[in-house]
Amino acid sequence: MTTHESDTRTLLEVPRVRRGDGVGGMLAFRRDQLSFLRRGIDRYGDVFRFRLVGMEMVLVNQPDLIRQVLVERTDRYNKGAALFEIVRPVLGDGLIVSDGELWHRQRRMMAPTFTMRTVPRFVRTMTTETQRMVDGWRDRTDADGPVDVSTEIGRVALRIVTQSLFSADVAATIPAFERAFATANTVMGAFFRFPFPPLKVPTPGHRRLLRATTAMDEFVSGFIEARLAKDAGAEEDADLLTLLMHAVDEEDGTKMDLKQLHDEVLNLCIAAFETTTNTLAWAFYLLARHPEVERTLHAEVDEVLAGRVPAFDDIPRLTYTRMVIDEVLRIYSPAYQTMRHASVDDELGGYRIPAGTNVLINSYFLHRHQDFWPEPEEFRPERFGPDQAGDRPRHAYLPFGSGPRICIGKHFALVELVLVLATVARTHRLVAPEGAAEVRPDPLITLHPHGGVHLYPVARR
Ligand code: HEM
Repeated sequence: MTTHESDTRTLLEVPRVRRGDGVGGMLAFRRDQLSFLRRGIDRYGDVFRFRLVGMEMVLVNQPDLIRQVLVERTDRYNKGAALFEIVRPVLGDGLIVSDGELWHRQRRMMAPTFTMRTVPRFVRTMTTETQRMVDGWRDRTDADGPVDVSTEIGRVALRIVTQSLFSADVAATIPAFERAFATANTVMGAFFRFPFPPLKVPTPGHRRLLRATTAMDEFVSGFIEARLAKDAGAEEDADLLTLLMHAVDEEDGTKMDLKQLHDEVLNLCIAAFETTTNTLAWAFYLLARHPEVERTLHAEVDEVLAGRVPAFDDIPRLTYTRMVIDEVLRIYSPAYQTMRHASVDDELGGYRIPAGTNVLINSYFLHRHQDFWPEPEEFRPERFGPDQAGDRPRHAYLPFGSGPRICIGKHFALVELVLVLATVARTHRLVAPEGAAEVRPDPLITLHPHGGVHLYPVARR
């Protein structure tokens, strides 16, 4: 085992959650993960540890320490953590879970598709698909009941990613993918609360997960096989699928095998689908509850777009729209938790972190940290105004992660989120049914709006 120099000083033990301290044990974590962690932070502060079915977890909720884990010490912290072991049976060796040389090679290959220079190519798909959803609301009446916003936005998000990156028209198979993903998210969320070694014990949960994984695999295979049969098409309009199919390893001259290609495509579909869907569902939910924010948003959209569907060049002037998105990503950060596995003994903030520890980073709490976010439960886009960042540390806000494993789709997502929101706001308000109950967050693998978001579309013009 390697030991780092810093370990030679006297290090403190990370405070451990104890019986009778009011935080609760594994059952409390299972019942309500967010309340358990809240009590742990209130009792022990920004760093504490607990055990989950024999695994050592250390929650780290301090920006400087998070920066060390995600950015500065990537040689000591990898993705072999419990959370990624749970999702590995679904995600295979794709970019989200892979490590080392494989990850480096794949990330290098895919990065050029996701730069700010490339993303404008996808704008038309983003606005066309959103407008198609909005047009579908034209003949609705109140008697039709509210729209299931999560489901409708989910379809738009999935069509955007599959068309933009893989030129695939998946309309017919979307419902099967959605159902499979919802099952996988629920089962894997439950595994995280009670982590049996995935798939080693064939529980009913494992069997449901296997069926869901097969369905998602079939969704992806459907359009990969169709493309393979046609071959890749002209280089100049090559999409990401063409690029991945033809990429050659600089070192050994080999091409990516079919399994790796499949895993990468599935990783991108999953990563892009639920995160953007949840962000937009939460955005419309919050706007429906905050008319003053909604009015400011509409004023900006009306002024900047003057009735047009937004284009890429409008984005720099849609500043308040972007602030709304940033604030939604703070309150309901969809990828709200990540984890790293300490591959060697280390120290963080003077605490001893033994090799094998799972370091848990939870942006639901980081984004509510009292030191950086006054009145954190308030929905206040003004926090993200040009003069508001002030001395807030960069790592107090991490909706897309940080360091080399930062979300590869960050620019894609931010452009999409602003454009979808502006396209809808241009013509519609989404209004909550009379007496609608609060929607609470469901901490699955992503932070899902429990029961979905149901709102009435009301035409503005
Ligand atoms: C609101 C939208 C999104 C959010 C909040 C989000 C969040 C994140 C976060 C926090 C990570 C880092 C996880 C970690 O460090 O363990 C990540 C990684 C990743 N995201 Fe996103 N994401 C979003 C949209 C997208 C989109 C649109 C795509 C692709 C089109 C995408 C593809 C990926 C991939 C492939 C990774 C793994 C990157 C790597 O490890 O190299 N994401 N995302």
